[in-house]
Amino acid sequence: MTAPRPLASAALALALGGAALPAGAAAAPEIAGLEAGRAVWLGTCQACHAEPDSGAPQLGDAAAWRARAARGRDPLYAHAMHGFTGPGGDRMLARGGNPALGDGELRAAVDYMLAASGQ
Ligand code: HEC
Repeated sequence: MTAPRPLASAALALALGGAALPAGAAAAPEIAGLEAGRAVWLGTCQACHAEPDSGAPQLGDAAAWRARAARGRDPLYAHAMHGFTGPGGDRMLARGGNPALGDGELRAAVDYMLAASGQ
């Protein structure tokens, strides 16, 4: 029997002494130059992009991001800003459901998520 992934990553965060960090933080690498994007990702995007049941492509999943990245960054930025429904009916909410995020913050979060996923 395997524990559901959110529990496993919460346990990992605790094991690493990061009890105050959100569950996805343990898996979110720090990348030089992309600190702001990481912060946005931790604050908003990880709710789905570190939660496989959401249907969102997961942070670090190169296979899930490769085809999306191949279309270029502009459509990805646009989908992060305005929302997007994939062919399977999974919905990316406009601004990840956080209307306080500006366009630059969204682009930074997308750049971070791609870099952390090997793109
Ligand atoms: C409420 C859940 C949820 C949150 C929060 C969320 N996303 Fe998503 N996101 C999704 C889902 C689901 C998809 C996959 C849609 C599909 O292609 O089926 C997705 C896909 C994407 C894509 C790929 C779009 C494409 O064209 O293939 C990008 C880029 C993205 N999200 C960026 C972000 C950013 C940046 C944040 C944080 C600001 C964020 N998401 C927060 C659910 C979410």
